[in-house]
Amino acid sequence: MQLATHPRDRLIVALDLPTVDEARSLVRTLGHEVSFYKIGLELILSGTPGDSGLGLVSELVESGKRVFLDAKLLDISNTVERSVNRVADLGATFLTIHGHDQKTLRAAVSGRGDRELKLLAVTVLTSLNSSDLDEQGITMSPAELVLRRAKLAKQAGFDGVIASGQEAAAVRASTDAGFLIVTPGIRLPGSAAGDQQRIMTPLDAIDAGADYLVVGRPINAASDPRAAAATFVKRIAEAG
Ligand code: C5P
Repeated sequence: MQLATHPRDRLIVALDLPTVDEARSLVRTLGHEVSFYKIGLELILSGTPGDSGLGLVSELVESGKRVFLDAKLLDISNTVERSVNRVADLGATFLTIHGHDQKTLRAAVSGRGDRELKLLAVTVLTSLNSSDLDEQGITMSPAELVLRRAKLAKQAGFDGVIASGQEAAAVRASTDAGFLIVTPGIRLPGSAAGDQQRIMTPLDAIDAGADYLVVGRPINAASDPRAAAATFVKRIAEAG
């Protein structure tokens, strides 16, 4: 599969909106400015059986967009394998799975089979700090655990990881260039961080090794989302 070639295709806009109609409306507003969308848990679980957030995956794919299904799967191997098998049929480009152990990761790879879906591991949620890990009996720092899990994901045949800008450089240094790094928490210089703890500008994230940038509120809550998206694309083009 050919992945991003144009700066525009490296921008993934998070459709973090409460209803399917609002998500559809944002996609219409953004038009040709955005080619790649992230559908997360809120939207997956929204709508009605006949018009669900999950249904939006195929709808966007049919209209020529790429979709990152941020389902963050974690279950027993058999369930993960079968679930990934279903997602691969939807036409999404990226899918997230919690990357805690080789058994689950390998089950996901097996479920994907020879379809084009790219599997991305969530290593350590950025909301967790050292004391949250300690609570689980994990004595490693979040940064060490991110690297350990990134390596597990690579060994299992995953295509890449989700990594904050701060983690990207270390992940890039320990994996080869073809291993995808998808980075959320992106802000333009001088803009509001919101609840993100570890933000980076597009330039800094790309310098650190990010292949794709996930942007939510700076675009989906902007007064002019299309202009905001165009600014991000411009910054990506300047950086890359
Ligand atoms: O609005 P904002 O740009 O902060 O949105 C970032 C998006 O990336 C959200 O959909 C959020 O759930 C997601 N994300 C994140 N940090 C992670 C993983 C995913 O912010 N570590």
